[in-house]
Amino acid sequence: MALFSWLLIISFLLYGFWKSFRPKNFPPGPWALPFLGNVLQLNKLNPLKDLEKFAKKYGPVFSLYIGGIPIVFVHGLPLIKEVLVVKGTEFAGRPNNTFINTIHKKKGMPFDPFCLIDNAVGNIISTLVFGKRFQYNNSSLTNVVDLIHQNTAMIIGPWAWLYNILPLVRGLPLPHRTIFSNSEKIFAFFRRELEEHKANLNPGKPRDFIDAYLEEIEKPENKGSSFEEENMFIVMFDLFAAGSETTARTIQWGLLYLVTFPDIQENCQSEMDMVLGNGACLKYEDQEKLPYTNAVIHEIQRFSSVPALGIGHAPIKDTQLSGYTISKGTTVIINFASILCDKSQWKYPSEFNPSNFLNEQGEFMKPEAFLPFSAGPRVCLGENMARMELFLFLATILRSFQLSWPDESKAPDLTPQYGITLSPSHFKVSLKHRQQNEQL
Ligand code: HEM
Repeated sequence: MALFSWLLIISFLLYGFWKSFRPKNFPPGPWALPFLGNVLQLNKLNPLKDLEKFAKKYGPVFSLYIGGIPIVFVHGLPLIKEVLVVKGTEFAGRPNNTFINTIHKKKGMPFDPFCLIDNAVGNIISTLVFGKRFQYNNSSLTNVVDLIHQNTAMIIGPWAWLYNILPLVRGLPLPHRTIFSNSEKIFAFFRRELEEHKANLNPGKPRDFIDAYLEEIEKPENKGSSFEEENMFIVMFDLFAAGSETTARTIQWGLLYLVTFPDIQENCQSEMDMVLGNGACLKYEDQEKLPYTNAVIHEIQRFSSVPALGIGHAPIKDTQLSGYTISKGTTVIINFASILCDKSQWKYPSEFNPSNFLNEQGEFMKPEAFLPFSAGPRVCLGENMARMELFLFLATILRSFQLSWPDESKAPDLTPQYGITLSPSHFKVSLKHRQQNEQL
């Protein structure tokens, strides 16, 4: 019996060692421990600095083992463009994640702006998907969006990794179960909305995403295709997951930078006062007439680097990158933060400075390395919508209010919280109505 146990332990360790050896011509990287891989070499709170160090040591394409799974990291504009655009089709796949698959199967006063912005941004996607807004005192949408964010964060967390690599733990009552119970609540909410829509459907007159999708399901040519209800829920999940946190965090960073750099705030307000005067409501088209404000909004996106490591890609067939062979299905992570603060690409890479987006004549210009929405066939689906939201939210707030930092005892904290996105810590801001636009 003892011999059998020892044999089992030795086989288990040998298996772990074997799984942590890089295949031939695979991108290089640090030596990996069996099972744990390189997780201990990454700062759990923010691994971006460690990734930079590895890129310096092993080159812009390197690999790490997270658990037993090899992941390829790509740094710097030339190779990121190669993955996203030049070889965009080859790298257009998404890594297979057993965990995800399993889920899919089943005034004046200082205030914290987080909740308000989360609500407002959630309501925009809700209008698109469900055709309606939820009152701010109705918590059903915010609860669901919260559950979606919790799940998105847990899906890249340690319990989901364990679930992916160790089939043995799948049935155990461990924290990964929260993801399943959250998913049940999320999909129950979606199902209620779907049933309401079915009851009031007016064929030929779709009111929103659900109506349009239901019409596609009914089309004879779509029978047997991916147009079916379970898939509709997955797309709804993706729209909320990808579209709400990214946009809300960028706006929250924007408010934090504007109170931190009051002279930049004032410059935007002077530009808007001069160009738009006290006129009617702000329109998206006004962005073109406001190069400085436009540059500030782009700088907010660059400096905050919200989707730091984006969403994993995976080659759909064995593919060459920078002389290495990346086999089909390998997770490839694009380090967007590496190009948004690359010294060779930006005039002021490590300071918040709108001049990064202005030429000598003060006109707006967008450098090639500005890729917060990614590029190529997998570019962010909601880029245009997000651009509109960022401009309309931030410019309307700036035009109407003077923003200030209410706490004289400490300066604003610009340290990002690392998660699925880079977010600011909660903060309070004071808003004072501006005289210039009193009627807004
Ligand atoms: C500031 C806001 C936003 C940022 C920075 C952002 C950024 C990104 C990035 C970096 C990706 C990954 C692209 C890749 O894999 O190469 C992505 C994917 C995606 N985004 Fe956004 N996004 C934003 C807002 C939105 C909005 C508002 C929506 C929808 C309403 C949206 C929907 C999506 C979807 C569905 C995907 C997945 C596309 C796919 O798998 O092909 N995003 N986004």
